[in-house]
Amino acid sequence: MVTQDAVLDALRAVQDPEAQQDIVSLGLIRDLTIAESQVTFTLAFTNQSAASKATLHSMASRVVGRVPGVSKVQVKMGSGQPARPPQAQGHGHGHAHGAPKPEDFIPEVKQTIAVSSGKGGVGKSTVTVNLATALRLGGASVGIIDSDVYGPDIPLMLGSRGRPGMFENRIIPVEAHGMKMMSIGLLVNDKEPLVWRGPMIHSFIQQMLKDVNWGALDYLVFDMPPGTGDAQLSLSQVIPLSGVVMVTTPQEVALLDVRKAIAMFQKLNVPILGIVENMSYFVAPDTGKRYSIFGEGGGQRLANEYNVPLLAQVPLDPATRQAGDDGTPITLRVPDSPQARTFRDLAVAVRGRLDELAAQRPLPKIG
Ligand SMILES: Nc1ncnc2c1ncn2[C@@H]1O[C@H](COP(=O)(O)OP(=O)(O)OP(=O)(O)O)[C@@H](O)[C@H]1O
Ligand SMILES: [Mg+2]
Repeated sequence: MVTQDAVLDALRAVQDPEAQQDIVSLGLIRDLTIAESQVTFTLAFTNQSAASKATLHSMASRVVGRVPGVSKVQVKMGSGQPARPPQAQGHGHGHAHGAPKPEDFIPEVKQTIAVSSGKGGVGKSTVTVNLATALRLGGASVGIIDSDVYGPDIPLMLGSRGRPGMFENRIIPVEAHGMKMMSIGLLVNDKEPLVWRGPMIHSFIQQMLKDVNWGALDYLVFDMPPGTGDAQLSLSQVIPLSGVVMVTTPQEVALLDVRKAIAMFQKLNVPILGIVENMSYFVAPDTGKRYSIFGEGGGQRLANEYNVPLLAQVPLDPATRQAGDDGTPITLRVPDSPQARTFRDLAVAVRGRLDELAAQRPLPKIG
């Protein structure tokens, strides 16, 4: 029995020499059909040179021919038109800016939220999974895109070992705790050198929006790589984000970085929903005494400076880390903990901000 996974796995070994990325991640494989031992697909070329096309064609047929059970491979050459025409009745509500047309990509997604930070390790992924979970518990349909090329931790934090499926040439996201999820970690090889990952981000984000069948979602939450790099730029170019949540720790070093990141989102016209101060304090379980391990008041100062709300102060809490490592976010795992309450309040604050921003937006012109 030849499976689609086996064929795609084999094709992942073929790199486009110009894009320096494998042809599956680039979305070049279209119309894959498997009839018993015969495999047919189209290589949907974009702007590859004639020489590259010829090389990729012969390499693709060769690697698939080597998959156990395959007797015949037919590779057609096509051009990289979108896999499907844009859907007709896009409504695009919840999207702040006009430039690129989001309805062409994800017409049924109402709000897109990026979770970002100045630097790594401040708790972006923890905030992403718990915010998403809290939105879900509030009754919303939620998707998560883990676009942190340098540390795609979301599959781990949601305990999902599944692989994305394919149906009618579109990617089916993985399901985790009632949410839909895609991660760059599910698509790249762990051993892929890190230097290749930066340039991947643009096509990854495009593919996540164009080729993944998200269906109708109230919120699509992005875990971004840290910093002010390509990912932020790519994402805000591909879709108009409804807003960004900035995560920081209270100490000054992190704040310097987060200022740069905020400035960049402002330049890109992405509304700042507010600040989440993570690892704000620690409550000693034995004495109940509160310690400010990383200093105090940083998040509030930042919020005042940019005139945005401080959305949450999340305490340092060993169970939160443990829950992340075990694959069930604390918001689900211990729903009546102070930590879970903090994240539920965060979800309420984020929803409130999105509504507020939507109300401030000028009404679309008619006609
Ligand atoms: N409030 C918290 N209390 C306890 N541990 C936390 C808290 N927030 C995050 N952590 C832990 O700190 C580590 C870093 O957090 P996380 O992975 O969410 O950060 P990140 O900004 O996504 O990091 P990276 O840049 O590596 O992707 C993780 O082990 C996580 O479990
Ligand atoms: Mg992370």
